[in-house]
Amino acid sequence: MPVPVPTRASNNVKPPGTPVSSQDAKHVKLFQPFQQQSVTMHNRIGVSPMCMYSSVDGNFNNFHVSHYGSFALKGAGLIIIEAAGVVPEGRITPQCAGLWNDEQMEGLKQVVEVIKSQGATPGIQIAHAGRKASMCPPFKGDYLETEEDGGWPNKVLGPSELAFADHYGQPQAMTKEQIKEAVQAFADAAVRADKAGIEVLEIHGAHGYLISSFLSGNSNKRTDEYGGSFENRARFPLEVVQAVRNVWPSTKALWIRISCAEYVNPEPMGLDPKGWDIQQSIQLAKEFKKLGVDLIDCSSGGNIKGVKYPANPMYQVQFSEVIRCEAEITTAAVGLIVEGEDAEGILEKEQADFILVGREFLRDSAFVLASAQNLNIDINWPNQYSWAVKKARRNNTRKGTEAEKTTTIP
Ligand SMILES: Cc1cc2nc3c(=O)[nH]c(=O)nc-3n(C[C@H](O)[C@H](O)[C@H](O)COP(=O)(O)O)c2cc1C
Repeated sequence: MPVPVPTRASNNVKPPGTPVSSQDAKHVKLFQPFQQQSVTMHNRIGVSPMCMYSSVDGNFNNFHVSHYGSFALKGAGLIIIEAAGVVPEGRITPQCAGLWNDEQMEGLKQVVEVIKSQGATPGIQIAHAGRKASMCPPFKGDYLETEEDGGWPNKVLGPSELAFADHYGQPQAMTKEQIKEAVQAFADAAVRADKAGIEVLEIHGAHGYLISSFLSGNSNKRTDEYGGSFENRARFPLEVVQAVRNVWPSTKALWIRISCAEYVNPEPMGLDPKGWDIQQSIQLAKEFKKLGVDLIDCSSGGNIKGVKYPANPMYQVQFSEVIRCEAEITTAAVGLIVEGEDAEGILEKEQADFILVGREFLRDSAFVLASAQNLNIDINWPNQYSWAVKKARRNNTRKGTEAEKTTTIP
């Protein structure tokens, strides 16, 4: 029998990360609830999906429980669990998480349980790495993983026989049968995510992985109905979304992350009609909307090795703003958003409806609590902590707050 996950302190009726006063919440968008279908995220800050390369056979384990639990405890409204491969060959590395069999649901359920126990919303990203599969984890190096070390260098798939880079796997161009199987694998993983209690499902359509590599004419050189025109390049991604939508409950949220530009034209908003660009991203977002996608998570890059792009603070917000406006769909912004004030500004200016944060959460799992302080709004802390420390501390002052100085420590 698994040990039950401890819940919030019994007198803590409001989850960490929610405003203490509903009056306050009216003035600060970041701490207003975010409703999608029947899912309510208690604020508008989420943890962006981040691979942790810590699974054995795709299974989630205690590392994931404590890692994702730490964000839930510290008030994140949504936690999108890292990319989970829909088939073993669809993982980036042999250590990536997966959701291609029922056994993998068991570990995932434990992660979901710990997230929900703190009042946060559990999400997951489902993915196929395509021609970027079978690599080694980045903390080991940057090379193709051998079969001896658990890789599958001879089973790398892509839209065409075009490798991502010289040291990546040589992909086989997928047959139509293999395309069909991949579509089905996404749908099957969605069913498992639902059974495990996930409430927000994100399809990984970005960063040069399988879906993204089909979208771009720079990586997709097919001459059949899955390559060539925009309609043909978008066929596989739309089939995936349709198949997932068919099995994913209408009461839960369906998101997709896309790369809105791939910088072959180095101008972020520059055109690359035969490759991939913002205009095609807008058109694609409109198609996704028709199929019932609830939100576009606007990222960029990753499909072309070696391109240069300006990764300045908030560099991808421009994509979210344009897609939100032109495709009239709800969006999330992500990418170097590291201050509560900036996150709030994005929502205020209606450049996005939701904020995703990656690396800053790795630096500081209490990013939400720090953002509240940054915005001068009083939010609930875990009760177990709040009586003792009262406020987040920024700038590493190590002096403690005035309130702390008057707290009696038992
Ligand atoms: C360690 C790490 C792992 C990542 N893994 C994923 C992933 O599984 N799926 C994905 O879509 N993006 C992934 N990303 C990208 C992040 O989700 C995010 O979009 C990116 O880091 C930019 O946001 P940030 O500046 O707030 O970190 C990863 C990033 C990092 C740093």
